Amino acid sequence: MQKASSMHTNPTILTGIKPTGQPHIGNYFGAIKPALERAAEYENSFFFIADYHGLNSVQDPEEMRRLTRSIAATWLAAGLDPAKHHFYRQSDIPETFELETILNTFTPKGWMNKAHAYKATVANNQTAGRSDDHDVNMGLFTYPILMASDILLFDTSAVPVGKDQIQHVEIARDIAQKVNSFYNKDIFVLPEHVTHEGIAELPGIDGRKMSKSYNNVIPVFASVEEWQKAVRSIVTDAETHTPDSLKQTTFYKLYSAVATSENSETLVRDITSGAIGWKDAKDRLASALEVRFAEYTKEYERLMNSPEEIDRILHTGAETVRPIAQATLRRIKTTIGIL
Ligand code: ADP
Ligand code: TRP
Repeated sequence: MQKASSMHTNPTILTGIKPTGQPHIGNYFGAIKPALERAAEYENSFFFIADYHGLNSVQDPEEMRRLTRSIAATWLAAGLDPAKHHFYRQSDIPETFELETILNTFTPKGWMNKAHAYKATVANNQTAGRSDDHDVNMGLFTYPILMASDILLFDTSAVPVGKDQIQHVEIARDIAQKVNSFYNKDIFVLPEHVTHEGIAELPGIDGRKMSKSYNNVIPVFASVEEWQKAVRSIVTDAETHTPDSLKQTTFYKLYSAVATSENSETLVRDITSGAIGWKDAKDRLASALEVRFAEYTKEYERLMNSPEEIDRILHTGAETVRPIAQATLRRIKTTIGIL
């Protein structure tokens, strides 16, 4: 077996995205862009589409196929080079689910009770006066164990994710540590989360976290009119702002994520001096979105019009990844006495 110390000299970065909706700029700045940038620092990189995680909420087969290709096209249009990075669909790697079964037997139920997606569903049920278990299926309850399996299967050292996923990476680490200490062996590499400074949580147009679930998103792929429409809905106030107070606003957080730092500084000067108001500021954000994402949108649309190209790339990706997954699984099965 490879020792943890030697594994660390060969560090691996890995992240996944669920195919549950159209990608928004929170996904782009919080997950896709930092993951691709960080990948340059690592020897191995794994990027995948977490379709079985998505099955918790997407149950229409055509929708599942379309959204899976949509997330794949998002990564590819963002610059993911399948010759440099492992790129695949979670469901094409069945070793993931065998490892999950093993991890199930080491994971205390109490850890799952504390996982935030499950806890939030229970809290909503309680507020609505429903039973705690209403709408809770085992896919939601064991969600963090499947995610731990995705991560531990590839000896992952770093997992770039937004703030909402940090707890899941910590659970993966805890499970890895539990198995390692049980067998008194470095079976699993202990993963760490990495977040992108400043954009761990981009707000949506209503000021809450931007999320497909809240319907408050600015889409990555859109027409100029669609960007303008989204931008006009951003909540703003009637305060007179200082540079410091302006930088705390939802609008500024969105603008500075999209525009250059030079343009962001100009915007601060123009708003605080009263030279422009929110309407002009919003027009600038719509233009910044166009500058940043118009080409990207074109490439995304080209790929979505060639689904066989996307499917071929994912298929080839899975073929190169499976032998790696099989080797890890053999190592673990030998340790536990199944092989
Ligand atoms: P959503 O909340 O829209 O369903 P996902 O849960 O599919 O998004 O998240 C995909 C990736 O994008 C995750 O790594 C997540 O942490 C990141 N992410 C999602 N929303 C944001 C946000 N508003 N700001 C920063 N990162 C985000
Ligand atoms: N749960 C993640 C999300 O909702 C997606 C995901 C699945 C993931 N498996 C992963 C992210 C492994 C990082 C590593 O965004």
